[in-house]
Amino acid sequence: MAKNIKIAPSILSANYMYMGKAIEDLQSAGADLVHVDVMDGSFVPNLNFGIKMVSDLRKGTTGVLDVHLMIVNPEKYIEQFAKAGSDYITIHYEATSEDIATLLQKIRSFGVKSGLSIKPDTDVSVLKELLPYCDMILIMSVYPGFGGQKFIPNSLERIAQVKKYIDESGLDIDLEVDGGITIENVGEVKRAGANVIVAGSTVFNAPDMKEAIEALRTL
Ligand code: DX5
Ligand code: ZN
Repeated sequence: MAKNIKIAPSILSANYMYMGKAIEDLQSAGADLVHVDVMDGSFVPNLNFGIKMVSDLRKGTTGVLDVHLMIVNPEKYIEQFAKAGSDYITIHYEATSEDIATLLQKIRSFGVKSGLSIKPDTDVSVLKELLPYCDMILIMSVYPGFGGQKFIPNSLERIAQVKKYIDESGLDIDLEVDGGITIENVGEVKRAGANVIVAGSTVFNAPDMKEAIEALRTL
């Protein structure tokens, strides 16, 4: 069954001086999720914000908080991010030596939707046996760490392969894609099977945020 397209602007690209306004603008522009990229300077070569950002956002918005943890040993922080008010918590396959299924179950145990992400060089087949523990799969279409990078073309085949795994599993799992998504390539990304579209620079650098979100949804 075809799933609804959801647009998840990444606040990594917002001006943090005006974060409250950015969230209000996203809500009135029709964003479905607020994508919250968390970076630790270790899993990725960049640093930004953490648990307090999620809890402050939670106090200020009813929007759906889609928290993407680009951090090592996410098991240390799952509980805190859950209690801070995340609606989705996505961890990286590459970020831990702990049992991934157990961590995804831990996310769900807090009533939070569980997400699992892989970087561009990780074989998509690792996801197969983990699907029963996932509410969402996140395919990185750039090397994580920075907004405004170029979409890696072979991501399309990777998305299509994962979509096939999901369909074969018969499970209800969202397929999210993150990195380098533009008005020009969003059509292909959706045709490959993605239904949740992350976009940072395309939304925040657009002259009209609402038009950009509409275009990402309908193209
Ligand atoms: C990259 C982040 C992305 C990024 C997307 O590490 O996970 O969410 O902000 O930004 P754009 O859409 O500009 O590539
Ligand atoms: Zn992200």
